[in-house]
Amino acid sequence: MLPDELTDPDRDVPAREHAVRAEEDLLTARHAVRADAVAAGFSIVDQTKIVTAASELVRNAYIHGGGGTMTVTAVRDAHGRVGLALSVRDEGPGIEDVEQAMADGFSTGAGLGHGLGGTRRLMDEFTIDTAPGEGTTVTVVRWKP
Ligand SMILES: Nc1ncnc2c1ncn2[C@@H]1O[C@H](COP(=O)(O)OP(=O)(O)O)[C@@H](O)[C@H]1O
Ligand SMILES: [Mg+2]
Repeated sequence: MLPDELTDPDRDVPAREHAVRAEEDLLTARHAVRADAVAAGFSIVDQTKIVTAASELVRNAYIHGGGGTMTVTAVRDAHGRVGLALSVRDEGPGIEDVEQAMADGFSTGAGLGHGLGGTRRLMDEFTIDTAPGEGTTVTVVRWKP
């Protein structure tokens, strides 16, 4: 079942924002995304992909970016295809070499370095907007088949 708002072709469902300031916010963000993915009618496999992507991005915002905000929006494209968009923003140090940061196994911290690359593979769309001193915004979309 799709949320009622998605029956209106002219607008996306209003975005929901989740602050990520503390460790427990990571779990809250995951649960919220799971609920939104269920409400949008995604399969269990797709729910897990979306939640995993959200989890990696909010963890990055928390660990590398000093905290941030995740915005979740149920979206619809011009062809009527519906999906879920996640945008995770922080005002941290930003990323100097994005290609390097995307590479599997690269980490400047204690992580495994598969977060960004893995997230790109799990989702249909992936954009990263970052620069040193400018913070980081990663936006991803998963469309319903
Ligand atoms: N929000 C962010 N702010 C600053 N740097 C980031 C951010 N997200 C990722 N990075 C950089 O990209 C690297 C790779 O990220 P990722 O693939 O998630 O691996 P990991 O988090 O395990 O280090 C990080 O080690 C970090 O240097
Ligand atoms: Mg990471």
